[in-house]
Amino acid sequence: MSNSKVATTAKSDNSKDTPAKTPESKKSPESYPDAVELLTTDHKAVKNLFETYQKLLNKASESKELSALANQICVALTVHAQVEEELLYPAMRKSFDTQELIDEAAVEHATVKALIEQITSGNRRDSLYDAKVKVLGEYIDHHVKEEEGEIFPKAKKLKLDLHALGKAIAIRKAELMDEPADIIENKDKSAAGLTEQSKSPKSSAKKEETTVAASKDESTNKKSTSP
Ligand SMILES: [Fe+2]
Ligand SMILES: [Fe+2]
Repeated sequence: MSNSKVATTAKSDNSKDTPAKTPESKKSPESYPDAVELLTTDHKAVKNLFETYQKLLNKASESKELSALANQICVALTVHAQVEEELLYPAMRKSFDTQELIDEAAVEHATVKALIEQITSGNRRDSLYDAKVKVLGEYIDHHVKEEEGEIFPKAKKLKLDLHALGKAIAIRKAELMDEPADIIENKDKSAAGLTEQSKSPKSSAKKEETTVAASKDESTNKKSTSP
């Protein structure tokens, strides 16, 4: 038997041992956290990142470490805001009662994005860089209080299919996180390790899949929060 034949056989035997992975689209919505749970977990994770930033600042950590963390925060917030705008907010706009609340949240997102833009287009050597990260954290605290105190409870009352929404959000998040370097235009991408991320060939297929999920939701929606 030639070496190449051995290698082919070995590969084939190994593949038998590896259970086939269920594609995300085939998983049941119940296997995902519901949308409120998933977004609340995001809120906690980003709060931890802001706290870590403050601790690093207090320890006078290296600029490179701080700018990498600021980039991580900006990517996480950009993805989070986008999935809320594409999936949660449109679903909630179907109810007349929640439109004002969602309008306010969308305006807050615009402010968050403006601050993110300032941070990611700037440099840690800028005199106001750390202040901008701190103000972003304070603003996010305020926004999260409104979402968790008012918007999420309303989402539960609306009897939305929160597991189906959770699945759509998880898939869209994964797709966006596949290409973090595309999420933010950053002068200091190397510090964040963002340029090392490879583009996934799966992303276009996943995008199509999620767009279907989102468009189903938006088919009856008369108004969108996306710019
Ligand atoms: Fe949120
Ligand atoms: Fe939000």
